[in-house]
Amino acid sequence: MKPNLRQKFIIGNWKMHTTAAEAGQLAKAIVDGVGIEDRVSVAVCPPFPYLALVGKILPGSRVALGAQNLYPEKEGAFTGEVSPTMLLDLGCKHVILGHSERRHKLGETDAFINKKVRIAFAAGLEVIFCVGETLEQRQASQTEAVLDRQIVQGLAGVPADALPHLIIAYEPVWAIGSTGHHATPQQVQDAHALIRRRFGQMFGKELAQSLVILYGGSVKPDNAGSLLRCDGVDGALIGGASLKADQFIAIVEAGTSAWHTEEESASEPTHNPELEPKQS
Ligand code: PGA
Repeated sequence: MKPNLRQKFIIGNWKMHTTAAEAGQLAKAIVDGVGIEDRVSVAVCPPFPYLALVGKILPGSRVALGAQNLYPEKEGAFTGEVSPTMLLDLGCKHVILGHSERRHKLGETDAFINKKVRIAFAAGLEVIFCVGETLEQRQASQTEAVLDRQIVQGLAGVPADALPHLIIAYEPVWAIGSTGHHATPQQVQDAHALIRRRFGQMFGKELAQSLVILYGGSVKPDNAGSLLRCDGVDGALIGGASLKADQFIAIVEAGTSAWHTEEESASEPTHNPELEPKQS
C-alpha cells in the first residue's frame, strides 16, 4: 500500500431531521447495510436529542457516532447548550464545527468556531471542521481569500498533537442542499488542493499530506463516484442523502471502490525513463 494512501471517510449529517423512531430505524438500517469492509470509516451525526438512542444501536458495528455542534465550555450556566464532556459521555467520537448553516444562519464567527475547535480537541473529540465560500464570494473571486481566512482563524492555536484528529470538510455554501447548483469535480479538486496547500504552510508538509479533506454539497449516489475519485478528496460529508439508508450506503460503497482504485494506481510501477533500455 502506498504510504500516503489516506483512509476515506463517509459522514452523515442528519441536521434537524428525524423523529426518535426514524432515527432508530435509520441507524439500524445503516448498521445492517454497511457491511464489514473497513477501508472507509463511517459516522453518523444525529440531532442532540437522539445521540443516546443512536449511540445504543452503533456498538459492535463500524459506524461511529458524531455530534453536530458543541458549546466551548466544560460546564456552567449556559442554558440550552451542550458541552464536549456530555458528548463524550454519550459515546461521540466526532463533532462537526464551523458548518456553514451555523456560520450563516446562527452568526458564528471564526473566533467563536476557533474556541470550539480548541476545546473539542482538548476534550479528546475528533473535529470535522467545515469551510466554504458563498455564491457571491465565489462570483467575486474571493474563494481563496475566504478559505484562507476560515482556515487560518479557525485553526489558530491548535496544538500539533491534535492535528492528526482533524478532518476538514470543504462545503461550498452554494452547492449545499437543494440550491440547484453543483460543484464540478474540477472545482472540488482545486479547492481541496488550495486547502491542503494552505494547511501545509501553517502546519508543515507532512501533516498536510496526511490531512483528510472531505467534500460536502449535494453528494448523492449518482455523483459520489466521480467526486470521491477526485485527487485529494478523502470522503464526503452528506446531508440530504444521509437520511435515506440506501442512498447513504450506496455512497459508502462508492467510497470503498474509490479507495480500491487509488490503491491499484498507487501500486502500479511508476515509469522511470532512466531505467528504460537505451535506443541504439
Ligand atoms: P447536502 O448537505 O448533502 O444536503 O448538500 C451537506 C452538508 O451540509 O453537510
